[in-house]
Amino acid sequence: MSSQPARSMPFPMLNERPEWVALAKHRKAMESVSIKSLFAQDAQRFDRFHVSHEGMLLDYSKHRVTAETMTLLVNLARACDVEGWRDRMFEGDAINESEGRAVLHTALRRPAADKVMVDGENVMPFVHGVLKQMKAFTESVLSKQWKGHTGKPIETVVNIGIGGSDLGPYMVCEALKPFKTRLDVRFVSNVDGAHIHETVKGCDPETTLFIVASKTFTTQETMANADTAKKWLLAALKDQAAIAKHFVALSTNEKAVQAFGIAPENMFPFRDWVGGRYSLWSAIGLSICLAVGFDNFEKLLAGGHAMDRHFQTAPLDKNMPVIMALLGLWYRNFWNADSIAVLPYSQYLHRFTAFLQQMDMESNGKSVDRQGRRVGYETGPIVFGEPGTNGQHAFYQLIHQGTSLIPCDFIGAVNIENGLQEHQRMLLANMIAQAQALMDGRGLAASGNDPQKVFEGNRPSTTILFDRLDPIRLGMLIALYEHKVFVQGILWNINSFDQWGVELGKVLAKNILSAMDKGGAPDGADSSTAGLLAALRKFHH
Ligand code: F6P
Repeated sequence: MSSQPARSMPFPMLNERPEWVALAKHRKAMESVSIKSLFAQDAQRFDRFHVSHEGMLLDYSKHRVTAETMTLLVNLARACDVEGWRDRMFEGDAINESEGRAVLHTALRRPAADKVMVDGENVMPFVHGVLKQMKAFTESVLSKQWKGHTGKPIETVVNIGIGGSDLGPYMVCEALKPFKTRLDVRFVSNVDGAHIHETVKGCDPETTLFIVASKTFTTQETMANADTAKKWLLAALKDQAAIAKHFVALSTNEKAVQAFGIAPENMFPFRDWVGGRYSLWSAIGLSICLAVGFDNFEKLLAGGHAMDRHFQTAPLDKNMPVIMALLGLWYRNFWNADSIAVLPYSQYLHRFTAFLQQMDMESNGKSVDRQGRRVGYETGPIVFGEPGTNGQHAFYQLIHQGTSLIPCDFIGAVNIENGLQEHQRMLLANMIAQAQALMDGRGLAASGNDPQKVFEGNRPSTTILFDRLDPIRLGMLIALYEHKVFVQGILWNINSFDQWGVELGKVLAKNILSAMDKGGAPDGADSSTAGLLAALRKFHH
C-alpha cells in the first residue's frame, strides 16, 4: 500500500495543514493559562488526563493542555494518518523509504502463530527459530554444559558492540539486576582502549565468553575491540581453536562473521528490518538472556508486545504513545521547548536516558522531510536526564528557575526487590514533589519578597508510574518510548529509521587515521585539522 499521495498533488508541509493552524491559534489562547488554574477549575482533572494499561499509569494532567488542546492535537494526528502509518509498520511495508526496508522490531515480540509477511516470506518462523537458538545457548551456558576451550564453564560474558548493539542490552541488564543469573555480564563499546582494558581486567580467559554484537559487522569500534579481545584470548590459550568456544556473533552479516573466524553455528542472526536502536529484542538481546535468563527475556518481549497491542488498538485520545508524542510536539513546535528531561526515579534505570538518547535523537534528529524538503518547523528534541534524586542536586535548578521550558518525564516503580522500603518512600516522595513544585512554583510573597527565590511554576511534566520494575513492565516502557518516537516521526514527516547523519564523521575519521599513518594531514584539510594533527605528533612520545 502506498503511503504517498498522487504525484501531482504536493504533499502538504505539516505547518501548512489546517489542523496545525488551529493549534497555533489555540496556543495564543493558552498563553496565560496556568496548569494550576486548570486543576482549580476541575476537580476531576487527574481522572480526565491519565491513562492506565496493564499495571502502568500515565499521568499527563500536569501539562498546559485542556480537553480542546488534546482534541486539536488528535485532529493533527488523524490528518497525518498516524493510524495508517502505524498499521503499515506492523504489516511490514517498507516505511524506511531511504533504505527501502520494512521496520519490524514489533515482529520480534509477536507470538509464533502470527503471520508477518516481508517480500513474500512469513518471517515469524525465522524469528522464533532464532529465539529457540538463543534459549538453547543460554541454557547450555547457564547449566555449565557449554565449556570453554580448556573444559571450564563460562563465568564472565563480555558484550562487544556500540550504539544499538550496546545501549539497549546494557540498559536492560542494569535495569533487571535483581533478576541476575550466576554470570557476570559486562559491556565494552568505546574504541578508547581503556574501555576493553578495564573491562577484561581480572577476567580469566579460560572462563570468559565474548559476544560480538554488530548488525553490520563492519563498525570500526566494535571490530577493533573484537580484534583486541581475540588477541587477549589467544595470548593466554595459545590455540586458534579456542575461538569456537569463546566467541559468538550477533549479526545480519554472515560473511563478515565467518571472515572474523566465528563459525556459522555460533552466529545468531537477525534481519535488516531491525533498526540498530530497536534491536535489543532481536539476537542482539543474547547478553540479556545470559544476564537474567531466557524466561525473563521472553517476559521482556511479552511486555513489548502488550504495549504494541495497546498502541494498535487504543483510540488515539487514550493511546499512551500517541498522547506522549502529541504533548512532545505541542511543546517542541508551539512553546519553543528544544529539550526534554527523562528522569527515572529508579537507580536500576540509570542507563535508560542514555539508551533513549539514541532511540530518539538518532531517529528524529532530521531536518529534511520524506519528500526531500527542508522542514519549516522544529523536529526531534534534545533528550537528557539522570536518575532521581541525583539530577535534583545537579541540573534541576535550571528546570525550575532557568529561562528554558523543559518538559519532564518522571518514571517510577512502586514496588521494589531490595526490601529498602524507607528509601523507596523517600524516592517516590521526591518524584511526586518535584512534579508538583514544577507546576505550582512559588510566588513573591511566599518567597519572602525575594525575587531570587521565586519559582515561576507552570512547568509541565508527565509521570509514568508502574507496579514494579520487572521484565514485563520494562518491555512495556521501552516499547512506549519506541512508539512515541515513531508517532513523532510521522507527524514531522521525517524518516525515523535511517541515520545518514552519523556517516560523515566515520568517513573523515578514516581519512584522518590514514593521514596519521603517513605523518601529514588529509588533502585540503583546514588549518585547525592540520594544526591539531601536528600537535598530536609533537605531544606523542
Ligand atoms: O551510530 C550509527 C549506528 O549505525 C547505529 O545506528 C547502530 O546502532 C550502531 O552504529 C552500531 O552498528 P552495528 O550494530 O552495525 O555495529
